[in-house]
Amino acid sequence: MAERLEVQMNKKPCYSIVFSTDWNELAMELSEMELQGRKICIITDSNVDPIYGEVVANAIKPCCKEVFRFVFPAGEENKNLDTVRDAYVFLIQNHFDRKDLLIALGGGVVGDLTGFVAATYLRGIDFIQVPTTLLAQADSSIGGKTGVDFDGYKNMVGAFKMPKLVFMNFETLKTLDERQYYSGFAEIMKHGLIKDAEFYEWLLENMYEIHERDLSVLKEMLQRSCMVKKLVVERDPTEQGDRALLNLGHTIGHAIEKAKNFALFHGECVALGCVAAAYISWKKEMLSMEEYYEIRDMFVPFCLPITVDGISPEEVLKLTKSDKKKDGDHIKFILLKKIGKAVIDTSVTDDEILAAIKEIYFDEEAND
Ligand code: GLY
Repeated sequence: MAERLEVQMNKKPCYSIVFSTDWNELAMELSEMELQGRKICIITDSNVDPIYGEVVANAIKPCCKEVFRFVFPAGEENKNLDTVRDAYVFLIQNHFDRKDLLIALGGGVVGDLTGFVAATYLRGIDFIQVPTTLLAQADSSIGGKTGVDFDGYKNMVGAFKMPKLVFMNFETLKTLDERQYYSGFAEIMKHGLIKDAEFYEWLLENMYEIHERDLSVLKEMLQRSCMVKKLVVERDPTEQGDRALLNLGHTIGHAIEKAKNFALFHGECVALGCVAAAYISWKKEMLSMEEYYEIRDMFVPFCLPITVDGISPEEVLKLTKSDKKKDGDHIKFILLKKIGKAVIDTSVTDDEILAAIKEIYFDEEAND
């Protein structure tokens, strides 16, 4: 039997996060949604479709009138308005109306893009999230942030749109390549760092099982990680306040992602950004030196980078200015008071940011 967490909005049940290893349980969830006579469009990408497209379509076929699949080329470079347009055309050509349903089947790019299509097609159509990567299961499928990149800026165009259901089959984590897997793991470490020191310790204690992708440990890891995210987004669904804590590591992380032209994965950049944020927290005497080095070094056994080469620290600083996470002229920087307690700080100076970027910068020439 699948286990679930209920996410509330304004203290009322809004949607469930279901943890499962069986696609038939997705069909059972859908059969509760009264979709007989309705169409479903699975939106997915060219990496995920060959593995799960047909399996999922076959499992859910009995729940509705017809299942369609819209498949777009995988990659962050396709998370844009052109792909959104192609999806609209597909839905129009297949006569989708507002009572039909979209399913986002894939990683963060698929989930964010599908959610945006759902938020805007016919002024809003229901959608569910079926995340298949660790990053999407731990983070991006929960909380209703949807959108696409625009003109090189990440997630610059988007909307808040809550899914009707988040269904994660964590067996899918078994087919992820190592880099994808550990990239998603960075968001899980982040959840421990910002809100739950016990969970952070548990992750370190279960390192071996996490490497082995032991299913019972993966389930507990996801449930605990999703609990952190759920509690944050329930209190602040549209990021007026504390939801910004989830952006630990993202200001410098996004800037590095852009400076490296998306050659590094999002979670790898988040790990680098967390190290930089922990460094600033140490320099501002919020963390001790020991805590800083512990946080930094604990990314290493999980195959995540703590240094980056081939960037200009000054350029990365400049790129942090275009981050959306701003409050007027001030960047809303997320710092750590201790492991398990993050705070929003708008007083971080350019010099402090530059020093942190230099701390994580590996200068190849200087090290020749
Ligand atoms: N990934 C950060 C958030 O959902 O707010």
